[in-house]
Amino acid sequence: MKIPYGKQWIDEKDIKEVVKILENDWITQGPMVEKFEQKVAEYCGVKYAVAVNSGTAALHAAYFAAGLKSEDEIITSPITFTATSNAALYLGAKPIFCDIDIKTYCIDIEKIEEKITDKTKIITPVSYAGYPVNIDKIKEIADKYNLIVIEDAAHALGAIRNGKKVGIDADMTILSFHPVKHITTGEGGMILTNDEKYYEKLKLFRTHGITKDKNKMLKNDGAWYYEMHELGYNYRIPDILSALGYSQMDKLEMFIERRNYIAKRYNEAFRNNHKITIPPVVDNNSRHAYHLYPLLINDKNKRKYVFDRLREEGIYAQVHYIPVHLQPYYQKNLGYKKGDYPIAEDFYSKEISLPMYPKMTEEEINYVINTVDKILKEI
Ligand SMILES: Cc1ncc(COP(=O)(O)O)c(C=O)c1O
Repeated sequence: MKIPYGKQWIDEKDIKEVVKILENDWITQGPMVEKFEQKVAEYCGVKYAVAVNSGTAALHAAYFAAGLKSEDEIITSPITFTATSNAALYLGAKPIFCDIDIKTYCIDIEKIEEKITDKTKIITPVSYAGYPVNIDKIKEIADKYNLIVIEDAAHALGAIRNGKKVGIDADMTILSFHPVKHITTGEGGMILTNDEKYYEKLKLFRTHGITKDKNKMLKNDGAWYYEMHELGYNYRIPDILSALGYSQMDKLEMFIERRNYIAKRYNEAFRNNHKITIPPVVDNNSRHAYHLYPLLINDKNKRKYVFDRLREEGIYAQVHYIPVHLQPYYQKNLGYKKGDYPIAEDFYSKEISLPMYPKMTEEEINYVINTVDKILKEI
């Protein structure tokens, strides 16, 4: 058996929707982009959504829309994919990390204030693995210091926090549609916001900073005319991919239910094994989106053994994440060093992400559980 840690679920309907677009006149920015945006915005309960061609582009655009500039600082978690902080570097800003809370695996909210300086502009919490980080508390801190909150919800589409879908609470929320995520467009991302001011900036940034809106242009030479008002990028997502995302949205609730079912099976199987720690669960009024199932091997010296044995048995587990501050680029250029964020480093040394994707069969789930059990008896 060969089981990856994550994979997409594409069905006949998805394929038909994409083929329909290929047979149309519009294959890039046509009507599907807006339809896809509206569907996600409606699902999450937000006013505006801007689709782009990756989660990384979504972060870059959100930081831009928030007005992030050279010398500014953002505060984020070191347990994330490098894109969360890299996108701040694109704008010349400095990522300041804040250690994680071992109760949530997300940023330690109690430590955020220590990291705020007069250069801080944005707090970017990451809802790691799909656990909906407590944005209300983070917003309280942000409001006190006049900061903007951008939630990196690349792992958390469909997660619910105190009865509200992820996307509602932060100033802006970013999503990723990479194939291992909750829905996929191949590559793709989106920014959600309730603020029209951000929405307008995001749309400009996605298309070279160019506008064709007569009300915004300084003059109008004719029907061909457009103006560039900002230095933007080509971050457009094509209609072909938007059609796939639009179709995938119909399966999102089923996908998340499947992920929660798999997590429940793992939790039941592993809860009482003292050699491992299962991931944090959420309270009744919330819902975990389980992009990942991060299992901790309590004896960190045994993590590599367990990982290698899983691969030998055909289980392609992963590790999420190597703390960003330990990356050579960050150490060389930003001065970070080993020991700076001990909780994140300890977490990294123990973590293994078990297979977690909606299409996992009962046979595959049972195989993972039995194989983990077997390997744990060897340590
Ligand atoms: C937490 C987090 N943020 C941002 C990204 C970037 O998304 P993308 O791969 O769509 O650019 C990822 C992707 O893996 C991620 O996991």
